[in-house]
Amino acid sequence: MERLLTLVTRPLSTKFLSILIISFLYTLTWPCMDAAATQELLEGFEATPNPSISSFQPLLDDSSGKFSFGFLRVNSTRLALVVLHVPSSEPLWVANATALARWSDHTKVLFNGSLVISDPLTRVFWSTETLGDKLVLLNNSNLQIQKSLDHGINDSTVLWQSFDFPKDTLVETQNFTATMSLISSNGLYSMRLGSDFIGLYAKFDSNFDQIYWKHKALQAKAQIIEGNGPIHIRVEPDGWLGMYQNGTTPVDIESFNSFQRQLDGLLMVRLESDGNLKAYYWTGSSWVLDYQAIRETCELPRPCGSYGLCTPGSGCSCLDNNTEFSSGECSGSGSYFNDLCTDPNTQNDIKVLRREGVEVPFKELMSYEATSSLEECEDSCERNCSCYGAVYNNASGFCYILDYPIQTLLGVGDDSKVGYFKMMEEARKKKVDAGLRVGIGLLGGAIACLIGAVGFGGYKIWRSRRGVNRMLEEEAGGVISGPYKDLGSASFRSIEMCSGSSR
Ligand SMILES: *[C@@H]1O[C@H](CO)[C@@H](O)[C@H](O)[C@H]1NC(C)=O
Ligand SMILES: *[C@@H]1O[C@H](CO)[C@@H](O)[C@H](O)[C@H]1NC(C)=O
Ligand SMILES: *[C@@H]1O[C@H](CO)[C@@H](O)[C@H](O)[C@H]1NC(C)=O
Ligand SMILES: *[C@@H]1O[C@H](CO)[C@@H](O)[C@H](O)[C@H]1NC(C)=O
Ligand SMILES: *[C@@H]1O[C@H](CO)[C@@H](O)[C@H](O)[C@H]1NC(C)=O
Ligand SMILES: *[C@@H]1O[C@H](CO)[C@@H](O)[C@H](O)[C@H]1NC(C)=O
Ligand SMILES: *[C@@H]1O[C@H](CO)[C@@H](O)[C@H](O)[C@H]1NC(C)=O
Repeated sequence: MERLLTLVTRPLSTKFLSILIISFLYTLTWPCMDAAATQELLEGFEATPNPSISSFQPLLDDSSGKFSFGFLRVNSTRLALVVLHVPSSEPLWVANATALARWSDHTKVLFNGSLVISDPLTRVFWSTETLGDKLVLLNNSNLQIQKSLDHGINDSTVLWQSFDFPKDTLVETQNFTATMSLISSNGLYSMRLGSDFIGLYAKFDSNFDQIYWKHKALQAKAQIIEGNGPIHIRVEPDGWLGMYQNGTTPVDIESFNSFQRQLDGLLMVRLESDGNLKAYYWTGSSWVLDYQAIRETCELPRPCGSYGLCTPGSGCSCLDNNTEFSSGECSGSGSYFNDLCTDPNTQNDIKVLRREGVEVPFKELMSYEATSSLEECEDSCERNCSCYGAVYNNASGFCYILDYPIQTLLGVGDDSKVGYFKMMEEARKKKVDAGLRVGIGLLGGAIACLIGAVGFGGYKIWRSRRGVNRMLEEEAGGVISGPYKDLGSASFRSIEMCSGSSR
């Protein structure tokens, strides 16, 4: 059923074109191999990117023709190795190289027992470090390196598979274990498994991950037995995310909209760059949203950016009334990035912002201490250099400590909930003050002003270049569409992060 539908709806020209391209490629790089060999690559295979291809160059197809492994052109000059869902051009897997190779004839992908991306002039960018016989792409999009066993022709073992190294996406039948993680394309968010839960974590701070969503196993059909091994999860083709310990009876079922509706399209789960975990199914012409872990925009980890305030029903504003929310962030706010503990000299540059009617997001996952008054709560934050802010709930006496740079707070109607936030004085002001203190008079002050303004301008450019978030826009659309352009921007961002993280 499934295959029938997709085969019929899939544009024939794409298939024809890819066969043509593949055949062409083979005549260039591997003259003796026939077209059937595109279903597996053997030792000795080599390929270089074709300069005239602007998007995707297939090297290997699966038997159904739905998936293809090959080169994806990134930012026009770079190359990533990906497994693509052909009808939608959506990359499902990306090789996690520390840096991206160039789209040039120096770059080579070869299979010599290992799958290797290398540039002879510089280095090996990425290698599976295996000793296999062949590379195959299974009909569930899993790319495998297999080794034949001596006894029996069809007997082979799997040395490496792309399913064990997901990036931000899982597809149906793919196992996700406690040793893996999904990382969003911007590198900010990750998904990992705990002993009995799925957790989503945000990297607000270089040395610390804050959990912002936690789904614990219900254990309705089977119990998690302590000491009986870690749990794993799998996207099930009939519309749910199953959590398992041992055996095939799930310890938890997180159902999607398509739960047991026998839909034919491929299902995938992706950790998005706004921190949400979403499932989509392929209808034959578009990806339709099937599930989202976080339903309310304000419950996302940072929907309004740093020093933002998200109020259910009315959207984003800024914690600081003197700044305006525009293009996804509170740009005028003096930020507070540096950890005071490592740079005590910044102590004098800190000012305090107070705001009533705010609450910490995902507060059931946040740490707090009980204090008897607002003053006591603020005091404990003020004295502690690793505290960036605190939110006091007068009714419960809970003092929530923010031990990471201030992100988006939740706006509530209740004024007895009060926030205390540390902020940096703006660079401009500091420089003016400094100039006056030195006492070089009006001229000196003016020069300092100028320097300050230039510095502040540069700072603003730097801020806007960081491209913090387009989350609310992304949140708005339930359907993501196919063409290269769209998937491009997402995957390009991810790829930039990869190269960035190699520092
Ligand atoms: C495969 O090629 C890479 C890059 O040239 C090389 O580093 C590696 O040693 C080769 N592996 C084998 C098994 O020949
Ligand atoms: C994938 O291939 C396996 C055999 O390798 C087959 O049993 C299965 O039906 C195929 N699935 C699809 C979706 O083509
Ligand atoms: C990619 O590789 C880096 C190290 O090179 C690692 O820190 C990171 O976790 C990897 N990402 C994934 C999704 O496995
Ligand atoms: C996923 O895990 C199950 C049970 O552990 C196993 O039977 C199955 O082969 C695995 N699937 C893949 C694609 O590795
Ligand atoms: C900012 O404006 C809000 C709403 O107008 C008000 O409730 C709040 O007290 C103001 N905060 C400051 C620090 O002025
Ligand atoms: C400071 O805050 C951090 C983070 O909340 C906490 O772990 C630490 O114990 C605090 N230190 C003191 C001296 O209170
Ligand atoms: C906070 O609570 C105390 C007693 O619990 C009460 O007297 C006080 O009015 C409350 N303050 C606010 C702002 O609600």
